[in-house]
Amino acid sequence: TSPILRQLADLRALTREWRQKGEVIGVVPTMGALHQGHLSLAEAAKADCDRVVVTIFVNPKQFNNPEDLANYPRTEQEDAEKLAPYDVDAIYVPDPQEIYPEGFATTVSVSGLTDTMEGEFRPGHFDGVATVVAKLFLQTQADRAYFGEKDYQQLMIVRRMARDLDIPIEVIGCPTVREPSGLAMSSRNQSLSDRGLVIAAKKHSIMCALVQALENGEAFNSLVTQAQADLLAAGFAEVEYLQLRCADTLDPLNHADRSARLFAATMLEGVRLIDNLPVSKV
Ligand code: PAJ
Repeated sequence: TSPILRQLADLRALTREWRQKGEVIGVVPTMGALHQGHLSLAEAAKADCDRVVVTIFVNPKQFNNPEDLANYPRTEQEDAEKLAPYDVDAIYVPDPQEIYPEGFATTVSVSGLTDTMEGEFRPGHFDGVATVVAKLFLQTQADRAYFGEKDYQQLMIVRRMARDLDIPIEVIGCPTVREPSGLAMSSRNQSLSDRGLVIAAKKHSIMCALVQALENGEAFNSLVTQAQADLLAAGFAEVEYLQLRCADTLDPLNHADRSARLFAATMLEGVRLIDNLPVSKV
């Protein structure tokens, strides 16, 4: 398995060596409990870069709910085993004080993009994400960073943050990896019952049907009420949001007259599940 580093000084010693040799470094930030979605990012990074660092850190600052933080799966040994076939150069599992030393007082906050959707339902979440990701970019000194489109809003926010702060890193978005049922892979799927997994998979087909109608030129406003009802009828406890947004600015849209994405957040068995799909311009 790949070496596990817990100290920033050890990571720096490695990356300094790599940079001196002119090697391109890729980073894959994660919170662990790795599944095929995460592994696809490691694979993309390996294909593109000379050196790859996967980071595993369950970031307390991005959890708006203490129970959610306490329940988040922590499976370091299994994660290292799952990464073994990808032969990454280092797994950085920072000791908490390497990320948030005593007296830590800085927050990175991206305005605009963080106001809606996940930002609206999870106050403070994206400040926590932007802060930790800025630190991971600076700590790893990576040239490229790999993020999943599964968390599309996060991808856009991280890209904006890196540009705004002149962090010299290219933020690369990778397609969502799904179960054969269509369900987007997520560490949170582990918390669903067998019945819950069947219901969760129905979201993908409902969203696909909605994308089809939008690509046929129908207006989102004329479709959204029925689609929400379909999700509830499928067994979801709640639809937090179902929205059509511009793929670049995340501005709300009613017609897919620009490159767009359909976003959904739903509750099922106390688990929050998010997903999004591209909608072609009509
Ligand atoms: P985490 O939820 O562990 O996800 C790590 C990365 O894996 C993210 O870029 C996420 O979009 C990607 N990912 C998750 N499920 C995926 C799937 N089914 N297909 C493709 N990619 C998928 O996102 C975070 O952690 C954190 O917010 C983090 C960026 C690490 C900051 O703490």
